[in-house]
Amino acid sequence: MESDMSEAKVDRCECVNRTFEELKEFKTLEMAQASTGCGQECEGCLPYLQLMFASGETAIDLDDPRLSDYN
Ligand code: FES
Repeated sequence: MESDMSEAKVDRCECVNRTFEELKEFKTLEMAQASTGCGQECEGCLPYLQLMFASGETAIDLDDPRLSDYN
C-alpha cells in the first residue's frame, strides 16, 4: 500500500538536497537562498520554506492550511 498522503511532510529542498533542519540554521530565507540556492530551482518547496522560517517547524504537512499565506 502507498504511504498515506495525509501523513506526508515536506522537510527538505530536494533540488539542493538540504533539509529544513539544515536550512533553518541560516536564520532567514534570503540567507539560506544566498548560500544554498534552495527554493530557486523548481520552487516547489518555496511556500514550505517560507512557512518553515515563519513557524520554526522543520517538517510541514503537504497540505498545511497556512501555506495559503505563501502562494
Ligand atoms: S525542491 Fe526546493 S527548489 Fe526544488
